[in-house]
Amino acid sequence: MNDKKFYITTPIYYPSGKLHIGHAYCTVATDAMARYKRLCGYDVMFLTGTDEHGQKIEDKAKEAGVTPQQFVDGIVAAPGGVLDLWKLMNISYDRFIRTTDGYHVASIQKIFRQMYENGDIYKGAYKGKYCKPCESFWTESQLVDGKCPDCGREVVDAEEEAYFFRASKYADRVRDLLLNTDFLEPKSRVHEMVNNFIDCEGGLQDLCVSRTSFTWGVPVDFDPGHVVYVWLDALFNYMTALGYQNDKYNDLDKFWPADVHFVGKEIVRFHAIYWPAFLMSLDLPLPKKVYGHGWLNFNGDKMSKSKGNVVDPYLLSERYGVDALRFFVLRTFPFGSDGNFTNELLIQTINNDLANDLGNLVSRTTAMAEKYFDGKLPAGRQSAGLDQELMGMAVSLRDRYEEQMEKFQFQNALEEVFKVIQRANKYIDENAPWALAKDLAANGERLAAVLYNLLETVRICTVLLTPFMPDSCGKIFAQIGAGEAARTWDSARHFGILPEDVQVHKGENLFPRIDMAKELAELEAIQEAAKKAALPAIEIEPQLEEKVDFDTFCKSDFRAVKVKACENVKKSDKLLKFTLDDGTGTDRQILSGIAKWYKPEELIGKTLVAIVNLPPRKMMGQESQGMLISAVHTEKGEEKLHLLMVDGAIPAGAKLC
Ligand code: ME8
Repeated sequence: MNDKKFYITTPIYYPSGKLHIGHAYCTVATDAMARYKRLCGYDVMFLTGTDEHGQKIEDKAKEAGVTPQQFVDGIVAAPGGVLDLWKLMNISYDRFIRTTDGYHVASIQKIFRQMYENGDIYKGAYKGKYCKPCESFWTESQLVDGKCPDCGREVVDAEEEAYFFRASKYADRVRDLLLNTDFLEPKSRVHEMVNNFIDCEGGLQDLCVSRTSFTWGVPVDFDPGHVVYVWLDALFNYMTALGYQNDKYNDLDKFWPADVHFVGKEIVRFHAIYWPAFLMSLDLPLPKKVYGHGWLNFNGDKMSKSKGNVVDPYLLSERYGVDALRFFVLRTFPFGSDGNFTNELLIQTINNDLANDLGNLVSRTTAMAEKYFDGKLPAGRQSAGLDQELMGMAVSLRDRYEEQMEKFQFQNALEEVFKVIQRANKYIDENAPWALAKDLAANGERLAAVLYNLLETVRICTVLLTPFMPDSCGKIFAQIGAGEAARTWDSARHFGILPEDVQVHKGENLFPRIDMAKELAELEAIQEAAKKAALPAIEIEPQLEEKVDFDTFCKSDFRAVKVKACENVKKSDKLLKFTLDDGTGTDRQILSGIAKWYKPEELIGKTLVAIVNLPPRKMMGQESQGMLISAVHTEKGEEKLHLLMVDGAIPAGAKLC
């Protein structure tokens, strides 16, 4: 039996249509961690899933004209939905929980009842503010400019009979947990939690844990009409998915307490305060750690569907490969802090690390093995002083990498690997294999040694890169002739694992260099189009609140006018000059800024509507005697204008009223 066990979780996601790279960030990190632990020989449980209850889902289902269950069923498995994205990103989860799964619902009912029976849940009345998108309760004083302090969106008044959880009872124990243990990391998040939610004015407040104003949730079985608050329901997924209060699974003894919950910074509050308090109430062991990672922003701005600036993982994976994308987010941004995703940084990282450093090392090494030895290194090697440094760096790499991985410092772990890759590239230049190859009879053994040392270095680095880029690493192993035994964690600490006469197969170039300027232009055009597509189809100006009295309105003289002539105004790209028959027998001249929408010739002979009793006005040195009436609106962010045209049977000069 393996006594090395590791239980890691991601947050369970709200099923909300298409997900962006920010959502994938945490799951990719969790996946890298889970793969790393498996590599180290651990029996890993990697849990993820979907959080499917709550008012937001009920509202969205209503909008879509389906039941909430139909709504979530449709979205979880839809293209671009959670399951689809995890497949694309090569996420190796062991278990997937949906909070609508029957076993989870029944478990939550038991948990709620138990907390009620032990006196930690009591009935009261809730009056305060509620943020639907975050499913969070707030007091008036917690709001920022009257809006939700987490997401900045509007909150609504909530007033209803509700059950409360005695969070206040656990304030001291939770404070102690946060301040005096390593439960919450990074440490920078600890004081924010303690100061804002425990040592704040009024102390840690009891938490409202049921709702009556909607029905889409786990029903409180002893009080119909109440549904369990979505966060209590959601947090317990980490235990019900192992079999807590149900017979569906039987892994609780094996995997609880969790080794780590990875969560985004805005939901640290729920995981670091209420989650341990719930567990304390039930006398259950606490998870060993909650790690609050930062957010990925895009071009310095929060990713949001309504802003149209979300980064589409499908688009980027198709262009650069899933592994490059997985690698980029973990290599570039420190996991605990916010990161600013830009296309430029992405391409730069692919070009520098993957194409220049890793790709080059693999392709130069395998190409030379093929060119000089038909892919099979001859046995017999000659070491030289130069080899020691490279070999030393390679065999000690695993320890440095492990130290960083254990702290979830993916960026630093990768930095260590790339230092060795860069050293190996330098080793090629120092040893100039092409010069040795000029006299194979004299230098063949040394050349074979140089190539062997390079292959071994590539192998060790590839073992350690596998959690980040599983597919590409599999291909590298195949190219350098590394069998199963040469891919293990143990083998990463030893030099000389590949057979001396290893067989190399140079394959495809795994990370082609990208033309930065061309690629940036293409990505920008695609992202601009996506931004436009996110804009509302039609926008019209709101109607004016202010009333005009009837007499004032009647003073405006609207007339049908027929276009006799129309031309562009010289030196203006906006103005058209109209000569109009207004029924008076004298031509009327009106200038109108509509050249963007109409060509002069298409308007001749048309009957339009003009207001004719405006005072004359000079534009570009010419007089305009009135104004033509048009209809205006915005379509996908673009201004549209249509001149008001009337039936040609209406005589010029007819009054419109
Ligand atoms: O919070 N960068 O679900 P969710 C980094 N159902 N992470 C981001 C991000 C970004 N731009 N945008 C979102 C929920 N995330 C709850 C969890 S757990 C018991 C219940 C992260 O779908 C976010 O921080 O709104 C969160 O950790 C995760 O995506 C899921 O967010």
